[in-house]
Amino acid sequence: MTSVSDTSQPNVLAANGKPKILGFVCEWSLGRTDHIHEDGTVKGMEHIKTIKIPCSGFVKTEWVTVAFENGAQGVFVLGCPLGDCHFNEGNFIINGRLEQHVGRMVNRKVIDDSGRVAELYLGATGNNDFFGQLEDFTKYIADMPPLVVAAKKPRAAAGKKE
Ligand code: FES
Repeated sequence: MTSVSDTSQPNVLAANGKPKILGFVCEWSLGRTDHIHEDGTVKGMEHIKTIKIPCSGFVKTEWVTVAFENGAQGVFVLGCPLGDCHFNEGNFIINGRLEQHVGRMVNRKVIDDSGRVAELYLGATGNNDFFGQLEDFTKYIADMPPLVVAAKKPRAAAGKKE
């Protein structure tokens, strides 16, 4: 399924030469700030695209895998500070799910390093270090060899012979 360190993969770098990163961003966290352009790109970081979600707990772990299958070199989930989720426990829920999912992805060699998935828990107000944390994440990812993850083949329909 996986071919790690395949430098022939053309889809892993953004136009600014940095590794492509996808983030799932809770609207109640920084999703309503001006840190993110209308098109989902993080300001000043065109290699980072984001998708807004109503709460980090809405993230399906399969989405993380699909992001890697589509060329992402790193994926992050940004939720409200732990203990401060608008839906009570969404961030705790995704925290637990991601821990298990990332472990499985590493064990199955879908990804080569658990550090390719980051969790950030930041409030919409206050002096948090959103850009600094994304800069650090980008550097961490950029130091690794390119990652190529082949997309899963769709399952054959039940009863249908291949
Ligand atoms: Fe932001 Fe749940 S509302 S993490």
